[in-house]
Amino acid sequence: MELASKDSPVRLGILLSGRGSNFRAIAESIRAGRLKGVEIAVVISNVVDAPGIEKARELGLPVKVFVSAGLKRRHHDFNVAACLALHEVDLVCLAGYMRLLSPEFVAAFPNRILNIHPSLLPAFPGLDAQQQAFEYGVKMAGCTVHFVDEHLDHGVIVLQRAIPVHETDDARSLAKRILAEEHVVYSEAIARVASGEYEIRGRRFVKRDS
Ligand code: GRF
Repeated sequence: MELASKDSPVRLGILLSGRGSNFRAIAESIRAGRLKGVEIAVVISNVVDAPGIEKARELGLPVKVFVSAGLKRRHHDFNVAACLALHEVDLVCLAGYMRLLSPEFVAAFPNRILNIHPSLLPAFPGLDAQQQAFEYGVKMAGCTVHFVDEHLDHGVIVLQRAIPVHETDDARSLAKRILAEEHVVYSEAIARVASGEYEIRGRRFVKRDS
């Protein structure tokens, strides 16, 4: 899977709606040299005052807000896709982007959209995954970075990280520890995808020669 030509960095387009801690972790991985060969081309939000967008501005990154109210999903997504194209984005990273994507948007970036979900998929897709996992009584929880396809929290898995659920946990403490793992694993997943050394075989994301 080649996302950019060998000599140029893979350009990320970050989509977020909220606090943007995953975005900040990705930006910090790049700054610290842990995530090499990628750069953030643009940060896009559908929420005007999303804290993540404020942080992106502070970091001097190109920022764009597309408010979705009153627009058909297809129309809104068209605007976002055009902005990503304008910024020559190779890989779209959803980082707490609280909108379903239209099939047209997904088709415009085939195997070029990543999402992070706070459960070990396919368990607990959808909202409040950490609460769902806690209430179900699982002993292991975690997070998943996956490609986005036309179904919710469903595409090919890039990386997962599992953590034990402690007896002293409540849903909040569990979510906090999962989030700490998210901040590490998203950058690792981006590195794998950007490396060009992996490919999708069926539902498996594997090293090319393995
Ligand atoms: C994270 O828990 C992520 O897994 C989910 O949305 C949340 C976003 O948090 N998709 P943040 O905005 O990155 O802090």
